[in-house]
Amino acid sequence: MKGAKDYLIFPLDVPTYEEAVRYIELLKEHVGLFKVGLELFVSVGPKILRAIRETGGAGIFLDLKFHDIPATVKNAFLAASAHGVTYTTVHCDEGKGLLRSVVENNPSGTKVLAVTVLTSLEGNDLKELGYLDRYVNDITELVMLRARMAKEAGCSGVVCSGLEVEKVKAELGKDFLVVTPGIRPAWSLVGKDDQKRIITPHQAIKRGADYIVVGRPIRAAEKPIEATERVLGEIEMAITE
Ligand code: C5P
Repeated sequence: MKGAKDYLIFPLDVPTYEEAVRYIELLKEHVGLFKVGLELFVSVGPKILRAIRETGGAGIFLDLKFHDIPATVKNAFLAASAHGVTYTTVHCDEGKGLLRSVVENNPSGTKVLAVTVLTSLEGNDLKELGYLDRYVNDITELVMLRARMAKEAGCSGVVCSGLEVEKVKAELGKDFLVVTPGIRPAWSLVGKDDQKRIITPHQAIKRGADYIVVGRPIRAAEKPIEATERVLGEIEMAITE
């Protein structure tokens, strides 16, 4: 059965191997998966994935947000999945055909999560990019369009903000996974930062998130393990209520 820690993804948003390993050692008993993003992967390469695998417990979320011609993405995905990665991310922009070909050519069973619309984009950006008014005026419409596309293509789920979780779950079903970043516990010490569409761990799980990504509230805490335990307490409360 899924316990509280299995809902928690900690992003290793640090520039060096040594710092990443320090967090892996510190938090390996407290989180379900470690997320490796572009910065760390470009800096240190696959050896960081080995370090996570060696914990023997935590899963790997390789968040490289692939976006290129189908042949390149397919081969990059195969290379990623050969490292024992549990989840990886692919942009929706290349269309359903690409998503489907990635999902179908998957000997290692790595799950594909689709990136719908980056949370850094606003209506005006979409307008500049030539999107229809209905999406410029309501980005959720575009998120839903792409989430439907991802499901039809056979993806395991999507990454989306806490404000969209309920909608995705209600329409696409409880088995279609939702990973939610932008989590800020009410007690978090993180001041004003770049996350805008935020909710608490408790709210996110209540709304149906399968995983929450919590980075800075843990990294910025004086005592990261205690902060992690508080997050786990909120998750526990949400799943047992
Ligand atoms: O909790 P914190 O804001 O530090 O988490 C940041 C992490 O969440 C980063 O690794 C970032 O890539 C990820 N993320 C995000 N917004 C998205 C998708 C992922 O902040 N829409």
